[in-house]
Amino acid sequence: MKDSLERIRKQFIEEVEALDNQKQLEEIRIKYLGKKGELTAVLRNMGSLSAEERPIIGQLANEVRDYMNEKIEDTAYVLKRKEVEVRLLTEFVDVTMPSKKQELGGRHPLSIVLDEIKDIFIGMGFSIAEGPEIEKAYYNFDALNHSAHHPARDMQDTFYITENVLLRTQTSPVQVRTMLKQDLPIRIIAPGRVFRADEIDATHSPMFHQVEGLVIDKGITMANLKGTLDTFAKKLYGEKTKTKFRPHHFPFTEPSAEVDCTCFACEGKGCRICKGSGWIEILGAGMVHPNVLRNCGIDPEVYSGFAFGMGLDRITMLRYGIDDLRLMFENDKRFLSQF
Ligand code: PHE
Repeated sequence: MKDSLERIRKQFIEEVEALDNQKQLEEIRIKYLGKKGELTAVLRNMGSLSAEERPIIGQLANEVRDYMNEKIEDTAYVLKRKEVEVRLLTEFVDVTMPSKKQELGGRHPLSIVLDEIKDIFIGMGFSIAEGPEIEKAYYNFDALNHSAHHPARDMQDTFYITENVLLRTQTSPVQVRTMLKQDLPIRIIAPGRVFRADEIDATHSPMFHQVEGLVIDKGITMANLKGTLDTFAKKLYGEKTKTKFRPHHFPFTEPSAEVDCTCFACEGKGCRICKGSGWIEILGAGMVHPNVLRNCGIDPEVYSGFAFGMGLDRITMLRYGIDDLRLMFENDKRFLSQF
């Protein structure tokens, strides 16, 4: 029995020394020390030994078992260390390698010009208002004093979702929403997308951008409107810029005007950008119609105000000499990276 213990120990050592991974080590542990293991079998047979032999063999068997356990533990440790070393070598990260270039985007020309416009009006005490792009026909037309048969209400001109819900054709419904919910006096601009059922070409798009403006207070007159827009034009296009108000019609302002400013490129002499006239149309404006004030619960005998609306895309195209509106919406990086 003593011999077989020594034989088992020798064989165990040979096997442990030959192995090279954790799985093999576990197999060896089971082979010797498991329930059906070789050493376990010897220990089971102790009962057949004589009373003198039993303690001697018992002690030796315990010694062999302790030896095996220790050897297995040590080997497991060594194997683990080796594994870590191998991983450190194979998974090495070269921190000195040049990194992949991250391409940074830039601001869209519309955003650049809009930010400038916002800054100018914020500087004059305006705040920024917003309204939904999907709008009630009531806010887009009725409350703004559009008659039931106004041509802008036509299916050909406007994207309807239902009879009473549409994609707003102008930012002017934000005037109504602001007057209904905000305390007086009011001084806001409202930039945003607007939609019209136009075929897309170099100067038309079914989606474009406007910046609306609204001021309501006691004693507001046309002089305030002219002063505000003149200051705006000078800030946007330079101190020498002059403005010109031409009579016009909008259902929700009275009197109404279209506003031109002297061409920023030729300063009024006439050039390609202003088509030789020296003037560039930049917006529509007027004094808020008393009907609109009444629709919003404001007494036109006490309060008055002005409103204006400009086409952001047009202003941006003129500013940068962009000759095709479609470029603004195609997301072509060759175009966008020029700003
Ligand atoms: N909403 C008008 C348009 O889209 C512009 C406008 C706004 C005119 C405010 C007057 C006052 O043409």
